[in-house]
Amino acid sequence: QDQIYRSGTAGRRPPFTTDHSRLERAARDVMAPQAYGYIAGAAGSEATMRANRAAFDHHGLVPRVLRDVSERDLSIELFGSRLPTPLLLAPVGALGLAHPDGEIAAARAAEETGVPLVLSTVSSHSIEEVAAAAPRARRWFQLYWPNDTELTLSLLERAVANRYEVLVVTLDAFALAWRPRDLDRGYLPFHRLHGLANYLTDPAFRHLLPKPAETDPAGAVQRWSELFNDASRTWASIPFLREHWHGPLVLKGICHPGDARAAVDSGADAIVVSNHGGRQIDGGVAALDALEAVVAAVGDRTTVLFDSGIRTGADTVKALALGARAVLLGRPYVYGLALGGTKGVIHVLRGLLAELDLTLAMTGHRTPAALDPSVLVRT
Ligand code: FNR
Repeated sequence: QDQIYRSGTAGRRPPFTTDHSRLERAARDVMAPQAYGYIAGAAGSEATMRANRAAFDHHGLVPRVLRDVSERDLSIELFGSRLPTPLLLAPVGALGLAHPDGEIAAARAAEETGVPLVLSTVSSHSIEEVAAAAPRARRWFQLYWPNDTELTLSLLERAVANRYEVLVVTLDAFALAWRPRDLDRGYLPFHRLHGLANYLTDPAFRHLLPKPAETDPAGAVQRWSELFNDASRTWASIPFLREHWHGPLVLKGICHPGDARAAVDSGADAIVVSNHGGRQIDGGVAALDALEAVVAAVGDRTTVLFDSGIRTGADTVKALALGARAVLLGRPYVYGLALGGTKGVIHVLRGLLAELDLTLAMTGHRTPAALDPSVLVRT
């Protein structure tokens, strides 16, 4: 932040605001209304999304003084390697809606900052394009598990061949959610082929099409949506993935302690406590409240990651203090992307990380690993 203040003295203002609500409004002004509605919206009355934010206000950070926090290190250990910060870019589908360079721009920001990008299955740029555009970025792959074994294995092979290190399987989006902002516009990006790059380039998917996607795009969308939603899976399905993915396996979208126990028993290496940013269920428990219950159930048996509602460095410190090893950033980086491509994502990340570093210091800590619940008071 010192840099920002000093550039200001020299007459150079930051490219855009670092305050989340103003950031969201600025991004809205540069995006097509339907794209903005898809990104900003959530399920039903959007109560879960509001609860996600409100939960952070129910925990107060207690400042500490005189503890020599002059040397600080934001890095963390995860799956036997070090990440420079406890932050990841969450998988967000169809980033081409926010910026023409979509996931490529996000991956370049990942490359520059060392913050890993979790590439969504439903990305606007393919697994291969993203890897080629940002070869040094730390890349994870998020799987929406299609209802076809050959296609599933093909996606996993492509992720391995292009050096995606970690597989994140998202479990809470097995059905299309009730999202009024999109319903009112009759709009789902995927129905206009946005976000289907990984399907359209996959030989196993093409094999499943009655006619080539080029001549029958509507047929391709129809086939995609049949493969995409599968509400019949159970915990008994997970060992299949464990068998076919040899790197770290992460299960995303866990809120119930019982599901967290099942995830650990299924052989997953980590879980993400998340309610998909409030986009799946309305009237849901705040993700931060779910985090406390999940950590109490399995915190000593697995690595817990967190997302849904992280907007600031202080939010991040609260989630880490409650037992998350790292957090995934969602909408804020998408708005940065909309406003400034790679540079916009970097601006959002730098701001959040500077604030995280300061909050760590002002609560008397030098490293993320040193945080524990004693830094919080329930208000
Ligand atoms: C998402 N999210 C998501 N998750 C996932 O596993 N695969 C995906 O393709 C998507 N797509 C997606 C699109 C959009 C527009 C949003 C906003 C979110 C969920 C995402 O990974 C994360 O859980 C939430 O974004 C976290 O909530 P906040 O912090 O954005 O409120």
